[in-house]
Amino acid sequence: MATPPVIAVDGPAASGKGTLSRRIAETYGFAYLDTGSLYRGVAWSLLVAGRDPESDADAAAAAADLDAAAIDGDAIRTDAVGVAASRVAAKPAVRAALLEYQRRFAASPPGGAKGSVLDGRDIGTVVCPEATVKLFVSAAPEVRARRRWLELRAEDPDLAEETVLADIRARDARDAGRADAPMRPAADAVLIDTSSMTIDQAFAAARAAIDPALTSADD
Ligand code: CDP
Repeated sequence: MATPPVIAVDGPAASGKGTLSRRIAETYGFAYLDTGSLYRGVAWSLLVAGRDPESDADAAAAAADLDAAAIDGDAIRTDAVGVAASRVAAKPAVRAALLEYQRRFAASPPGGAKGSVLDGRDIGTVVCPEATVKLFVSAAPEVRARRRWLELRAEDPDLAEETVLADIRARDARDAGRADAPMRPAADAVLIDTSSMTIDQAFAAARAAIDPALTSADD
């Protein structure tokens, strides 16, 4: 059986890759996997259990035990969980435990979907290096901090924008600097800088890359 098409969408925090990925999935009828939610799920389970996300053994055990279907989509969205997620994500044992789940999703998209969209940091480089299309979505750190702060401040009115910017810079450095599966664009990725783009413009740029690739994959 032919491998279903995979759209890999990588990029840093608050670059707009989640919104873009959901829209791509809806438009093409593909299944969507937010791979960051897996790392966030691991971090969250450690934090609620009072465990240290820096502990290799605890983080590896939490990743091995993760039930992706049971992740609480709201609880994992806080800034603190995002920071802890980028710490556990630097651990090779955690990445290895989550790799198979991501590859299975791409190989057999759930719900009978005819393809998949995976968003993350290493989808085009490590998880699905044979992806049909690879997008790398970025934006200036200040723009991303503003977006994330606007999202988070409804829940946390005391949160300062500078705190969010500092967290974003620290996470970027950790995600791009780790030895195992660092965040970086694949050599054949299409770069989309959303700093001064609307969602519609970013989506148009994505379509311009996806449409021809899906047509030639059909041939
Ligand atoms: O939503 P946001 O872009 O802030 O982050 P996320 O996609 O939810 O990912 C949270 C953290 O998980 C990131 O800072 C990365 O450290 C890690 N992650 C990763 O290492 N590899 C992935 N494929 C996805 C996320």
